[in-house]
Amino acid sequence: MKLAVLVSGTGSLLEAMIKDGLPIALVLADKPCRGLEIAGAAGIPTLLVARKDFRKDGKFDREAYTKKVVEELQSRGIELIAMAGFMTVFSKPMFDACEGRILNSHPSLLPAFKGESAVADALAAGVTETGTTIHVATMELDDGPILAQEKVPVMPGDTIETLWERIKVVERRLYPAVIRDYARKLGI
Ligand code: GRF
Repeated sequence: MKLAVLVSGTGSLLEAMIKDGLPIALVLADKPCRGLEIAGAAGIPTLLVARKDFRKDGKFDREAYTKKVVEELQSRGIELIAMAGFMTVFSKPMFDACEGRILNSHPSLLPAFKGESAVADALAAGVTETGTTIHVATMELDDGPILAQEKVPVMPGDTIETLWERIKVVERRLYPAVIRDYARKLGI
């Protein structure tokens, strides 16, 4: 399979995928980040498509950004896309071009706590357990068919950082396995 991993941050899920031996053909980021450095150090081709370069009328041009990323993925023959902490939401052209081929890992038990503050929201809600969801990404944010979920306990005294790290420990094990399984089902 030709897998692209999309990152914006620390890239610890990417690191787990590299350790797992997944055949990563490209790591793409929307801003300079540790994820790109990790990929570079591992000898994986990297590409920065910076959000800040896509502005129209003083606003982020989501459509133009999405089209550029689609073009880059298609020109490299990418067959499967794994978002791993990628913080830009794509518009329709991505889902038209790659329907059913974009995976995401979200740090909550979806449909609970959608959005980028999922861990903080779970903590603020006082739940005793949260977790992770690996799903197929669709136009609807943090939605789409669920491939795997695993619970993680919330401990007394947890901060966003301690809880998020406990969730990521699970994500680092689960996500690579789900990617392999999904690729096998796609026959790639
Ligand atoms: C993960 O918790 C993932 O669920 C979320 O972003 C985080 C990425 O972590 N979408 P890292 O940058 O790989 O450490």
